[in-house]
Amino acid sequence: MRIAITGTPGTGKTEVAKILSEKLEVDLIDIKPLLERSKVGFDKKRDSDIIDETVLSKEFEKIKGNFVIEGHMAHFIDSKDVDFCIVLMTNSNELRKRLLKRGWDKEKIEENVLAEQMKICYGEAIDNKHKCIVYDTSNKTSEESVKEILEMI
Ligand SMILES: Nc1ncnc2c1ncn2[C@@H]1O[C@H](COP(=O)(O)OP(=O)(O)O)[C@@H](O)[C@H]1O
Ligand SMILES: [Mg+2]
Repeated sequence: MRIAITGTPGTGKTEVAKILSEKLEVDLIDIKPLLERSKVGFDKKRDSDIIDETVLSKEFEKIKGNFVIEGHMAHFIDSKDVDFCIVLMTNSNELRKRLLKRGWDKEKIEENVLAEQMKICYGEAIDNKHKCIVYDTSNKTSEESVKEILEMI
């Protein structure tokens, strides 16, 4: 099975991806080098890289077998390259707590809380025609989250 995990920073992607890949006994792929090679510019207004999705899809042709891949841009992967896109969500108060622990400033935290309230990753994942599994990590441990996500899969 090939799984992409997306979500606003702090929703639990890295922890969930690690445990999920271990349970499924598949590779955990680092998305960063793939995005780096697919980057065609920078959107100042959105403070994020602009990705050429055709190039990103070509990168995936090189990857054989099953995997879990995670990142807040993982939903830009072509839906044909993964079986599911898991969208992790977290309520505003819990997300603030998690991002405060990272030492982020208030402005950056509130920008991300707003992005989460607006369900931006989920909206973009749907636009990208992914088969989405939406999961709220707010009141769960990462182990519980993975157990329930596996049941949903
Ligand atoms: N159910 C959960 N699933 C994943 N992470 C959780 C969960 N509950 C709390 N956390 C915590 O949330 C924080 C952010 O997790 P992380 O995996 O780094 O998020 P992301 O990769 O999406 O930025 C970590 O400190 C993690 O331990
Ligand atoms: Mg992470």
